[in-house]
Amino acid sequence: MQSGPSAFFFWICLCQHLELSAAYNASFLIPTNLTWKILHCKLHVYWECNVPWEIQDNVTYEVTMTNSCLGSQIDTTRDRNMTFDLYPNAKFMVTTIVKGTQERYESEEISVIPEGLNGTAAENVSVSLSFDFNISMTFLWNYGKNAPDDTVYKVFLRQTNGERTCEIYRYKQRRMAKCIIPNLNIRVSEQTCIIIEGSSKEKIQMLVRCVKPSEKENISPPSNIRLNFTQKDMLINWIKPSMVSDPGDHCFTYMIKLDENESGLLSEYSYTVPKDSLKEDSKLKIRAIGKEMCGLQNEWSKWSESIPCGTGYVNEKRDKELIPAIAAGSVLLAIIVLVLLWCKWLQEKILPPIPKPKLHIDFETCTALNGSGQNIGIL
Ligand SMILES: *[C@@H]1O[C@H](CO)[C@@H](O)[C@H](O)[C@H]1NC(C)=O
Ligand SMILES: *[C@@H]1O[C@H](CO)[C@@H](O)[C@H](O)[C@H]1NC(C)=O
Ligand SMILES: *[C@@H]1O[C@H](CO)[C@@H](O)[C@H](O)[C@H]1NC(C)=O
Ligand SMILES: *[C@@H]1O[C@H](CO)[C@@H](O)[C@H](O)[C@H]1NC(C)=O
Ligand SMILES: *[C@@H]1O[C@H](CO)[C@@H](O)[C@H](O)[C@H]1NC(C)=O
Ligand SMILES: *[C@@H]1O[C@H](CO)[C@@H](O)[C@H](O)[C@H]1NC(C)=O
Ligand SMILES: *[C@@H]1O[C@H](CO)[C@@H](O)[C@H](O)[C@H]1NC(C)=O
Ligand SMILES: *[C@@H]1O[C@H](CO)[C@@H](O)[C@H](O)[C@H]1NC(C)=O
Ligand SMILES: *[C@@H]1O[C@H](CO)[C@@H](O)[C@H](O)[C@H]1NC(C)=O
Repeated sequence: MQSGPSAFFFWICLCQHLELSAAYNASFLIPTNLTWKILHCKLHVYWECNVPWEIQDNVTYEVTMTNSCLGSQIDTTRDRNMTFDLYPNAKFMVTTIVKGTQERYESEEISVIPEGLNGTAAENVSVSLSFDFNISMTFLWNYGKNAPDDTVYKVFLRQTNGERTCEIYRYKQRRMAKCIIPNLNIRVSEQTCIIIEGSSKEKIQMLVRCVKPSEKENISPPSNIRLNFTQKDMLINWIKPSMVSDPGDHCFTYMIKLDENESGLLSEYSYTVPKDSLKEDSKLKIRAIGKEMCGLQNEWSKWSESIPCGTGYVNEKRDKELIPAIAAGSVLLAIIVLVLLWCKWLQEKILPPIPKPKLHIDFETCTALNGSGQNIGIL
């Protein structure tokens, strides 16, 4: 048996040891009461954990958040709460980690299901990006089937560099809404969170969506269309659609409509039409379609503006080119006439008319006179 003081210290140590063992018991350290709240496109999560005060300083929490947009992300904290950007189909779980041990105490996984009446969230949401000097985004949706008529929806768009709220709303037909965010400063290839919140006398479910803006960009028509006429043919040239996401040359196919006749699918930037197939008032237009393999919408752009290319137009154009030549010709003719008149006048002045024989002035004489003006008197 040990004696006195050493026995005392032995018991103290044993007690401490037991206490710490108990502290590490899973039933204490598993996070419980996981809850969440959505505020302004942010997801706030909270939990509880009965951590004995002795090891409080050595405890951290690892929060695993998964969503259908970014996959999963893990963050660590000493607090019992954390804030995330909201993404669709979010789920989270919390793990307690005690420094200096290998043990992990995992909570259950909680799904974030937006509150509110089922079927009240916006439905059939379509998003499109357009580029017309500035970037704008247009959202179109139906009211949820169970959403009351007085429902007002609000759209938010979030990227890592900030958030925009849609301010321009149009209510098209019954229970269909549209909103536009103009002058967007957006990263087109970044996953972007779209949130549609509703308010009404009922609690409206929030809708969370993820989109990559470049995949929603409207295809614009080909630009800079030029015509070039040769002896026999008309050559049409154009440039690929100008778009924010600036897809490669191989990402488009084109179609030309000459009067009512549509060309097949074209992968080139030029097309030749025999001149004989042109009518007096022929017109042509071109449209483009994106390729899915480039992450573009597989939809036709609008047609470009109609370009007159008929024989009438071509002649008119040629006439236009002739006008300067005709004008120059007229001026020259006028000068010659003036010079001739001046010659006649000079001759009449210097050599008063002799009744007979009548002086014969011809063009050659006149130029001779002009060429050596000082000899006029001698003549
Ligand atoms: C942990 O605590 C539970 C009840 O609180 C108990 O049944 C279990 O035996 C304990 N486990 C350990 C390893 O101490
Ligand atoms: C969890 O919530 C229940 C009921 O609200 C409460 O009784 C319990 O103490 C909570 N647990 C912790 C660890 O706070
Ligand atoms: C906390 O961790 C430090 C360093 O790992 C260790 O020295 C200390 O004993 C731990 N405290 C408790 C109460 O476990
Ligand atoms: C998170 O926890 C810390 C520390 O307990 C607290 O100061 C902060 O207000 C909490 N944040 C929220 C959103 O509850
Ligand atoms: C709402 O829909 C979800 C999923 O479809 C379902 O689990 C839940 O029971 C529904 N709630 C009500 C009140 O109908
Ligand atoms: C485009 O955006 C810039 C900066 O946001 C703004 O100054 C300009 O007026 C906008 N142009 C058009 C046509 O809306
Ligand atoms: C959504 O679109 C589908 C198919 O066009 C349609 O049947 C449905 O009624 C639409 N939902 C709403 C709420 O209008
Ligand atoms: C028209 O085509 C000819 C021959 O291909 C070329 O030399 C000329 O530069 C073209 N003109 C224009 C305006 O494209
Ligand atoms: C359309 O173009 C094709 C091929 O160039 C030609 O054979 C056909 O006659 C054209 N049809 C009309 C209505 O111009």
